[in-house]
Amino acid sequence: MERTSENGPVPAQRKAPSAPPAAEHDPVLTYGKEDDDRVRPWSRHDRTMAETGVRTLARRLPGLLRLAWSLAWEADRAGLVVMVVLRVFAGVVEAAGLLAVAGALTAVLRDGPTPQRLREALPALVLVVAAEVLRSGLAAATNLVRVRLGPRVDRVCLVRLLDLATRTSIMAFDDPRFVDDLDAAERGAASGRQLVDNAIEMLTSAVRIAAAGGVLGVLHPVLLPLLVLSILPDGWASLRSARLAHASWLGRLRQVRRQYMLRYHMTARECAAEIRSFGLGRFLLDEYTILAREQEAEQVRVGRGQARYRLTGEAVSGLALGVVYGTLILLLNAGVMPLAAGGTAVLAIRTGRSALAQALTTLNTAYENFLYFGEYRAWIAQAGGLVPAPREQVAPARPVVVRAENVVYTYPRTDTPALRGVTVELRRGEVVAFVGVNGSGKSTLAKILAGLYEPDTGTVSWDGVDLAGVDPDSVRENISVIPQDYTQWPMSARLNIAVGRISRLLADGPDSVIPAARATEAAEVIEKLPHGYDTSLARQYNSGHDLSGGQWQRIACARAVYRDAPVLIADEPSAALDARAEQTLFTLIRELGRDRTVLLITHRLASVRTADRIYVLDGGLVADQGNHAELMSRPGIYRELFTLQASQYVDTDPADAEPAGTDRGDVLDAPR
Ligand SMILES: Nc1ncnc2c1ncn2[C@@H]1O[C@H](COP(=O)(O)OP(=O)(O)OP(=O)(O)O)[C@@H](O)[C@H]1O
Ligand SMILES: [Mg+2]
Repeated sequence: MERTSENGPVPAQRKAPSAPPAAEHDPVLTYGKEDDDRVRPWSRHDRTMAETGVRTLARRLPGLLRLAWSLAWEADRAGLVVMVVLRVFAGVVEAAGLLAVAGALTAVLRDGPTPQRLREALPALVLVVAAEVLRSGLAAATNLVRVRLGPRVDRVCLVRLLDLATRTSIMAFDDPRFVDDLDAAERGAASGRQLVDNAIEMLTSAVRIAAAGGVLGVLHPVLLPLLVLSILPDGWASLRSARLAHASWLGRLRQVRRQYMLRYHMTARECAAEIRSFGLGRFLLDEYTILAREQEAEQVRVGRGQARYRLTGEAVSGLALGVVYGTLILLLNAGVMPLAAGGTAVLAIRTGRSALAQALTTLNTAYENFLYFGEYRAWIAQAGGLVPAPREQVAPARPVVVRAENVVYTYPRTDTPALRGVTVELRRGEVVAFVGVNGSGKSTLAKILAGLYEPDTGTVSWDGVDLAGVDPDSVRENISVIPQDYTQWPMSARLNIAVGRISRLLADGPDSVIPAARATEAAEVIEKLPHGYDTSLARQYNSGHDLSGGQWQRIACARAVYRDAPVLIADEPSAALDARAEQTLFTLIRELGRDRTVLLITHRLASVRTADRIYVLDGGLVADQGNHAELMSRPGIYRELFTLQASQYVDTDPADAEPAGTDRGDVLDAPR
């Protein structure tokens, strides 16, 4: 149906975007300045590029083959052995077939009556046919093994990557380079399978070359080196053209990523509303078009360069082939080689040339895959070093005192420490609160206390035991966290709670999540879903259901309650909750605090009034501490923030309102 408006039909399609003025397309304006090493991007790859010459390739070939071998060996030993045996056998059969052709031709070209010559040629002809049939059978069997090997290599590579990605220290993920490299490694992982495939292809070609070369060597020794020479120009051309494509790919990597990023945001569900509200569609589309056009131009440039290389290679190769056949004619003419052998030589030359050409093309692709796979290998090595070493000593279960002392922490690639020497103490049976303005270091300190980050200097101890010396898993085992940025798992509602402690779901059964859901009022939400606890919350998919921000937050809270650990860390647990749900949650937190250690981080200062101790953080330092009454009795950040918030709940004539930061805490002690 055609859409209409008051002014008539609305065109269904937009005008093709035109390139905006150059000033509008300023990459720095749009994407921001990137760090120094990003301004000269891919210096690492530039180096790689310089190392992709023919000599380097030859030097690295053994390493490349070794890598492919070890990958295939790990993925499917039996398959690999069968594959090699099949390939070598196929080569022998091919050589036997060529020699049988020579036999048949010799018999046919002999003097005598034709029926007799044919009869004499018959056994050799039968051998030729048998060799061909056997070769096809072997090729089919090889393919069968190959289809098994590929997916297995894929699995081995990805499982190793995912295993490390879930075990490396969380701190690594704060380093953009690590995340960047992980991205490259994920794409590089797919090259492992192709590398193995290339290596098999190369083995196949090598065996075929050996068969053809062996036969040619038997016929006349000069033919073999000539054959090799004839293929070199082609080889040179395909090598140059692969390098050209690779260099261009590396140079365009940043553009490609920006295009990818734009495409993702233009089609992502979470951006759809903002794109429309702000009328961003045209801007993004123009930006995308500019990048796509640049990309097109570059691809045309590369295509032209490759065509030039191919043309030169093929022309010189053709000439060289002329020399080979010329030599063959000379040999026949001089009577050095019988005619029958000449016929076989033509076949062997054809086989050898096609196998050599195939080998060179495969070598190129293999090398490219080797480079991409290098990203994967480099990340695996890097991440392997970032997995915390297991420690013998375990943390005390149910600690009475959790203490951070003089903790300093700086995020990777930042200059200012997020924490600059912080000392705090949490005791069992108490609710301790962290308050402070945005960016004052509350979440960072919470993550350090939760055993996720290790401080640069200073210590975190449980009942006097320094956590630096204990197994980090044993620390986290005793902690339950409601993170500020919790994950909305694309799984069932039940599992979204059970992720708090999967082992408990297995031990106590599916209904064990219900009490936790009731305690945080998540049950109220889940029970209304079409399949209750079994409703899928994978909103990205057709059958998934979405929840509101506050409904999700109730589930995040239920998750932490389900975990049921002696230390509870709640970072902004009520940011999206309605007043009633918030009230329930804070009552619950206080109840949990009776026999647990509870840390509460919140900007809703009304709810920290009952905390046993409040730490006020400011610029990575503890600016003040005490209970609510103590902090309200003196000027400072707490009293200022509290008063400011409380004033919003009181009906005042604007004319009477006192400026923010004045001492009104006593009057406004009940902000809600
Ligand atoms: N992953 C990170 N990488 C680099 N810097 C970070 C990272 N996370 C936080 N920071 C910086 O560390 C400082 C403290 O951040 P933190 O998240 O601890 O603040 P916060 O007190 O929890 O703030 P909010 O009230 O907004 O949650 C901030 O200056 C912030 O920019
Ligand atoms: Mg925070």
